[in-house]
Amino acid sequence: MKTDLRKQLTGQINAMRPWHHDILLFDDFSTGRVFSPDGKLDRPSNDGVSLISPRVRYLAQLDRLYPDGMSGKSFLDCACNAGGYCFWSREREIALGVGFDVREHWIQQARFVQEHRTVFPTDNLEFHVMDLYDVPTMNYEPFDMTYFSGIFYHLPDPVTGLKIAADLTTDVLILNTALMLDSRNPRGLTMARESRTKVMSGVHELSWFPNGKETLRDILLWMGFKDLKITMFNERKDNFRSRIEIVAARAPGRLSGLEGESLT
Ligand SMILES: C[S@@+](CC[C@H](N)C(=O)[O-])C[C@H]1O[C@@H](n2cnc3c(N)ncnc32)[C@H](O)[C@@H]1O
Repeated sequence: MKTDLRKQLTGQINAMRPWHHDILLFDDFSTGRVFSPDGKLDRPSNDGVSLISPRVRYLAQLDRLYPDGMSGKSFLDCACNAGGYCFWSREREIALGVGFDVREHWIQQARFVQEHRTVFPTDNLEFHVMDLYDVPTMNYEPFDMTYFSGIFYHLPDPVTGLKIAADLTTDVLILNTALMLDSRNPRGLTMARESRTKVMSGVHELSWFPNGKETLRDILLWMGFKDLKITMFNERKDNFRSRIEIVAARAPGRLSGLEGESLT
């Protein structure tokens, strides 16, 4: 029975490739392990899209942010891709998770996972095909926590984009972005052009990369966050794909339980 199901789902997962998120569906069967034993692949081996498996790290971070669990909390994932972070947050019992992505390709994957993931509940989650800039039309109630990963540097106006997400966040926002480091102008942004057709890119052709943590600190402080911590900083020598993750909280001292360099 399970063998037939694995075979059927493997065919469907293959037909929906490429995948970016490795998400466990049941037993040891996951979207990523259809393609590699550990659910991870570099871009060249996966149609130009990295296959990642960040569940363990993400849940450890959630547990430090919400040591009593997330029961009753709401969660917004901007550019949710296949919805991995919504599904993992649901493991910590969020009451509502909303994920949106501008591409149908990814939202189809999220809905597929929602249908076939039996290892944890997938109710109370909704997924939408939507551009970040259209979020205000939805009139959402604010969310406790917002995830803003891999989207800042795909936007023609990233400050407006991040502000849309920040204005909907009452407690914690996680910002994860690529950088183009420039020590001569660490508060700047560098413009780039990008494809609108590649499945992992933006859709507006124009994009901006922060030149340093200072850029992001000043933007987040201006948006009203009072506690900021760098929880990941990956500086590349060639500077292409340097990356930073900043956790931002509304309340001063809110991030005392989190390891990382304070930015405030
Ligand atoms: C680098 S991936 C990051 C995916 C996911 N957030 C993560 O961190 O694993 C970029 C994602 O942003 C989506 N995206 C790009 N521009 C967007 C926009 N204006 N509104 C919503 N989603 C967008 C893409 O379709 C893609 O899924």
